[in-house]
Amino acid sequence: MELLRTVDAMQAQADTARAAGQTLALVPTLGALHEGHLALVRRALTEADHVTVSVFVNPTQFGPGEDYGDYPRDLEGDRETLAALDVDAMFAPSVEEMYPYADDEALSGPLAWVNVERLDEHLCGAYREGHFRGVTTVVSKLFHACKPDVAVFGRKDAQQYVILQRLVEDLLFDVDIVGVPTVRESDGLAQSSRNEYLDPDEREQAPVLYEAVTAAEEAIEGGEQAAEGVVGAMENALAAAPDADVQYAEVVDAHTLQPVDRLVPGQEVLAAVAVFFGETRLIDNTFAQVPPAQA
Ligand code: PAF
Repeated sequence: MELLRTVDAMQAQADTARAAGQTLALVPTLGALHEGHLALVRRALTEADHVTVSVFVNPTQFGPGEDYGDYPRDLEGDRETLAALDVDAMFAPSVEEMYPYADDEALSGPLAWVNVERLDEHLCGAYREGHFRGVTTVVSKLFHACKPDVAVFGRKDAQQYVILQRLVEDLLFDVDIVGVPTVRESDGLAQSSRNEYLDPDEREQAPVLYEAVTAAEEAIEGGEQAAEGVVGAMENALAAAPDADVQYAEVVDAHTLQPVDRLVPGQEVLAAVAVFFGETRLIDNTFAQVPPAQA
């Protein structure tokens, strides 16, 4: 596996692979790789001949007061993990490489942003101003650097996944977006680099997010048609954790990401929660198909 630190080197490797007739997959990550990321990598290895994993803690998707400075970084550990998986390239650019004009005193950058409108109005987007603009901008740049045919993302970041699908459709990126189901610990907690911030007591309570989205699924499958009823089921489950500070529990249409009031038979919805344990913010969600109306 090659470790590539510059856009030029990455593009050259992608061009060489394509000239040799290979198809290319990209797994974009923030690094500090865990089992959830490895599921994305394994999927990428089945999707294309040449697999690049990018490791880049992207400053533009973190808001003021968020954990950009503290976000776990383990470049050497990530390199060893990816080499063992038979990945072809690890692209780990510096911030200066990805945002070359960020420190230009006369005209500091970036000046060009990529933004998907409307889909960031609810869920995480309502609380993390500018977050998805940072994600769509860096993912566009990673696509130009790594030139993939296929890009693999976790469905755990459900809003990001829906936004990125719309990004490639609207901007005619010739990249297929593949979504991989959430990887969970044995007690249901979704794997996340942020889980390592939790103290033992918080860690014990954290599976409540999974219990909440499971309660939402059960309510929907059981024929609940009022979004309020589904939200109530999630809130009841979350109430079992004394230290859970709920940021949101919402049900939205899975394509428009706009809140729903009544669940329509056949509709695909997304039930999602975001919860703080102390300073640590965790998310979880489920995509669910509303069952046909009962006669
Ligand atoms: O999901 C993530 O880890 C990040 O948002 C991504 C897609 C790598 C962009 O920085």
